[in-house]
Amino acid sequence: MKKVLIDCDPGIDDSLALALAAGSSDSLDIVGVTTVGGNVDLELTTANALALREFLQLGDVPVTPGSAGALLHRTVRATAVHGSTGLGDVVLPQPGRGPSEGHAVDFIVRTLEAAPGEITLVAVGPLTNIALAVRREPRIVEWARDLVIMGGSYTRGNHNPAAEFNMLADPEAAAIVFEAGWTVKMLGLDVTLTASVTSGVLERMRPLGRLSGLLVPAAQFYGVVTDESGPAIHDACAVAYVLDPGLFTCVPAVVNVETAGQHTRGMTVTDFKISDRDANALVATSLDVPAFWDLVIGSYEKLATRLG
Ligand code: BDR
Ligand code: CA
Repeated sequence: MKKVLIDCDPGIDDSLALALAAGSSDSLDIVGVTTVGGNVDLELTTANALALREFLQLGDVPVTPGSAGALLHRTVRATAVHGSTGLGDVVLPQPGRGPSEGHAVDFIVRTLEAAPGEITLVAVGPLTNIALAVRREPRIVEWARDLVIMGGSYTRGNHNPAAEFNMLADPEAAAIVFEAGWTVKMLGLDVTLTASVTSGVLERMRPLGRLSGLLVPAAQFYGVVTDESGPAIHDACAVAYVLDPGLFTCVPAVVNVETAGQHTRGMTVTDFKISDRDANALVATSLDVPAFWDLVIGSYEKLATRLG
């Protein structure tokens, strides 16, 4: 059983990533969900995480809110992509239970300290909480079994030509995280854009009972679905990496996050021409797309059986 702590900003693809984790309960143990302001404001990402905890039947998994905005700079949101609530057209039942007491940063530090070497941090939003946790307690770098992020890119941006959204939303936090001393597993746009919901994938999501009521409208809101292309469920790639790293080709690199550039803030400047010893990241360069979807849909099918 692999233990994961998921830091997220749901967010359409965050929701589909949480659904993947929920459907993989035979091999993943979700020890906590922490939220961060990102795609939408913190109040909404937390409300969405709480609604998802109940909809996905995650039981007692604590949901702990964290940072509302970036460490230093103005807030950037992605409501144009995720809608004003963060979940597109999807309206989940109101959750009966609220968030845990305390702050996500304390939860992250405390949880990693209690189980050194056991828990993989999966961060699929801006890296504000993770950076603050590193600053609060640098030993989390040793305590974490691994840090897997959806963020960055070595070829292109999406929020602008240079920067991927999670990096642009808090470049200083991202720089702190990449410089902290661990080997960041970076699932960037280079691979996540290949994880796109084509019409063939959408057809596999339709017969999944109550779960399809989340998956199908979420995917359709997120982008135009055709036979050849569709919206990329970026964040699910980070969970898929934990489940089966062999789905990805990964290459050691030095990644530096641009924090000063006038047109390039948030760019992940990636140098592959290094000795492995110098690497601060393992960067995904390709994804076995058919095997990815078999894993994701297989997990969704298991979850759908539970949800009815
Ligand atoms: C990332 O940005 C957010 O909009 C998504 O949830 C994902 O984490 C993709 O660039
Ligand atoms: Ca996200």
